[in-house]
Order: sequence, then structure tokens, then C-alpha cells
Amino acid sequence: MTNKYMYFIANWKMFGGLGTLNSVNKVIKFLKTFKKSKKIKIIYCPPNTLINLMSEKFIKTSVEVGAQNCHESMSYVPLTGSVNPSMLKSVGAKYVIIGHSENRQSGETDKLINLKVKAAIKVGLKVIFCIGETLSQKRKKITKKILSKQIKLGLNKVQRTKNVIIAYEPVWSIGTGVIPKSRELLKTIDFIKDKVGNNKILYGGSVNPKNILELKLIRNIDGFLIGGASQEAKKFIDIIKKTYN
Ligand code: PGA
Repeated sequence: MTNKYMYFIANWKMFGGLGTLNSVNKVIKFLKTFKKSKKIKIIYCPPNTLINLMSEKFIKTSVEVGAQNCHESMSYVPLTGSVNPSMLKSVGAKYVIIGHSENRQSGETDKLINLKVKAAIKVGLKVIFCIGETLSQKRKKITKKILSKQIKLGLNKVQRTKNVIIAYEPVWSIGTGVIPKSRELLKTIDFIKDKVGNNKILYGGSVNPKNILELKLIRNIDGFLIGGASQEAKKFIDIIKKTYN
């Protein structure tokens, strides 16, 4: 059981479509019946195409909406297909995920990620800043070095760091069903906490209704960034319920 303020962030990735919004209705319904005393923050990060619709849906609820990435420019530039933080804010996003490993793998550098973080914060979005080591980096035992570098460069000269939530997502754990051993995770999160001070730190990577029983016991985690399991209302609700029970 936890008495902590916990974050549950749904990362829908490219999963979307209006039909899937039914699963969101179920989560809203569930939250109405959930004890008010529970300190809980739910944020949905759907594809950009659904941000507007979702944020309208959540108007009378405590659920918030975020985006999954943004362009680093704060103002208009002639760039076909790009979406900057102000545009996301204008359709109701309050958060944006930056530095997700899927985007790092497709070429986003720490430097670019840093520009994105700064731009997002400047326009008033909160940033869900993702870090994590790959399997080969883990095998080489350079996890700490990698995380330090990602934090140092990604958050370089970032003002208002209280608007940054860190999501530790080991790349080898994303979508694989494998999660780190509890002791190892505890140590890694402590290491990150030492580096960043007061920022909230989430864990992400294959979180599901089964392994949440193990993950929720790790005392220094402030919540979860959930991909696959967030797409189905039942799984998402189970994860939340089991965290508090
Ligand atoms: P997963 O994804 O829960 O499907 O592993 C997590 C993420 O990529 O944020």
C-alpha cells in the first residue's frame, strides 16, 4: 500500500483512433469511484491527433493530457509536418514526453533533446524526460555513466527543473515483458535521485498488472510510464488499483 502521490502516465505511442477513446471513458468512470483520498495523477499521452479531443473529454476530471514528442522550435518555422510545444499547448497538452528511447534510437541526440526540453518548459509545458541504458550498455556495466550523461546533457541549463519529471526506462525493458530486478532498480533510482535532487522519478518498461505488485514495493519510485498496458482500460485500471491496495 502506498500513501505517496503517484503518477500513472499512459504512453499510447502510435496507438490511436477514436474507437480507443472508449477505454478512456472506462478509466474516467473508474476514477469517479476511486477513493478521493488517494493521491493520484493520471496523464494520457495519446498521438497528437487525439490531444484536442482528449483534453476536452477530461475538462471536468483531474486527468491531464500530454504529447509524446515536440519540435525544438518555439515559434513558427516553415517545417512541414513538425509540431512545436506552443502548438501542443494550444490544443490542451500540459505535458510532453521528451527523450524517449524510441526517438533516441531514431537519431535524437542529447543536444537536440536538451533544446526540446528548454523549448517545452519555456512555453509552460511540463516535461517527462526519459533516460535509460540499452542492453549492451547494461552488459558493459556502464549504466550509471550513460544515465549521468543523459541527465547532464539533456537537462543542461534547464530552468525550472521542478517542471521536469524523470522517467527511467531501461531500453531492454520496453515492450519486452522483462523488468529490472528490484534491488537493481532501487539502486538505479537512488542514483538518479542523487543526481537530480527533488524531481519526481518514474519507472517505465513493461509495467503490467502482474509485475506492479513487485514494482510498487520499490520505495523511491514516484509512479510509472506505461506503454502497452495503458491502451486497455482494464489493465490500466488494474495497475492503479493494485498500486494502492
Ligand atoms: P511498455 O512501454 O510499457 O510497452 O514497455 C513503455 C514506454 O515505452 O514508455
